[in-house]
Parts: sequence; structure tokens; C-alpha cells
Amino acid sequence: MKFLGTLSLLIGAAVASPFHHARQSTKTPDSFYLKTSGSENSAHNDLYVYGYHTGAALNDAVLTPDLDTASKGFLNGTQVQFDFNTTFPWGLYPIGVTNYAAWQFVELNVGYGAEGFFVNSTGLQWSEQNGFGGWLVCDWYHNAPQLFYIYRFYTAEYPASCSRVKLLTESA
Ligand SMILES: *[C@@H]1O[C@H](CO)[C@@H](O)[C@H](O)[C@H]1NC(C)=O
Ligand SMILES: *[C@@H]1O[C@H](CO)[C@@H](O)[C@H](O)[C@H]1NC(C)=O
Ligand SMILES: *[C@@H]1O[C@H](CO)[C@@H](O)[C@H](O)[C@H]1NC(C)=O
Repeated sequence: MKFLGTLSLLIGAAVASPFHHARQSTKTPDSFYLKTSGSENSAHNDLYVYGYHTGAALNDAVLTPDLDTASKGFLNGTQVQFDFNTTFPWGLYPIGVTNYAAWQFVELNVGYGAEGFFVNSTGLQWSEQNGFGGWLVCDWYHNAPQLFYIYRFYTAEYPASCSRVKLLTESA
């Protein structure tokens, strides 16, 4: 009995040890999932960004509660890229406003992504010079919540199905 007790303690210690090395840093993780937080609509919180295929080399930034579906990203300088295990890169592209829109699509497309991203204590940010005024989630036409960004140079009077969110980087 004593031997068994010691053995199970040893096994317990071996199993537990990886967690002792878990990173407690507030730095941007090397590899991350983008997770919504802080919405006044609880159905828009704790959702992960993934690439919803819309055409060759094109994906909309749609949201899912399912971690297995989530797209794994990393920061390369000021560009956000995604690891889709292809020989060519995929990046995060907030679509430019050329139509006087007050909010606009966000896509995960072939390429290194738009420049101007950074992470601070309120999550992933894009350059205000490019018009970034925060993230918006709307229940949209892929029959799921979808990610948009607010174009800060116009006043966004978005529909009730939309809400503002933060996009936190959760270590992958
Ligand atoms: C980072 O981006 C640059 C171009 O902006 C590219 O040359 C380089 O391969 C990228 N790094 C990775 C790991 O994809
Ligand atoms: C990545 O792609 C390679 C080559 O196509 C494949 O052998 C490997 O299993 C893939 N890895 C994952 C995690 O899908
Ligand atoms: C993070 O960056 C955004 C965009 O530049 C800014 O509005 C926000 O105040 C910053 N948050 C903190 C805590 O500095």
C-alpha cells in the first residue's frame, strides 16, 4: 500500500509538472487564437476567429465557439499571419473603406496581411491612421457571428444584431 501511494504521488508529480512551466507572461503569445471579449451581448463573447472559405484564396473572418475550428495566428512584425499549413502565407486583411462605409469586412486571405497591427492590454489593435475604430461583431450572412472593424472617420450606427468587442490573443 505504501509503495502504491508513493507511486501514485510520483505519477501525479510527473503529470502536473508541465503546468508548472505554463507561461504567466502578459506578452503576446508566439502563437495565438483571436478571442472575443467584453461585448454587451454575451452571445458575442468567447468566440474564436476562423477563416470561412468564400472563394479561391479568400476567407471571411467568422466566429465560432469551437477551438478546433479556430484559426491559429502569429504576429510577424506588424502583420498577423495564420498557420493554415500551406506553402504560401495567409494574413489578416481589414478591407479598406472606399465606399463611405462606417464599418467594413475583415478577411483572412493569401498574403502576409495588412501592416499596422499590434497587441496591447485591450487586445489586438489595428492602426488608427488606417481608420481603425474598434472591432464589431454582427450576426451575418454565413448564419454566424462575423468580425468587422469600425471605420473611425464616420459615426457607426450599427444594427442591434451587432456589438463592439475586444479581440484578445489566447495562447495556442
Ligand atoms: C514575415 O513577413 C515577411 C514579409 O512581410 C516575410 O518575408 C516573412 O517570410 C514572414 N515570416 C514568416 C514566418 O512567414
Ligand atoms: C501539413 O501538411 C503536410 C504536407 O501536406 C502534411 O504532411 C502534414 O500532415 C500537415 N500537418 C497538419 C498538422 O495538418
Ligand atoms: C490600445 O490601443 C488602442 C488603439 O490604439 C487604444 O485606443 C487603447 O487605448 C490602447 N489600450 C491601452 C490600455 O493602452
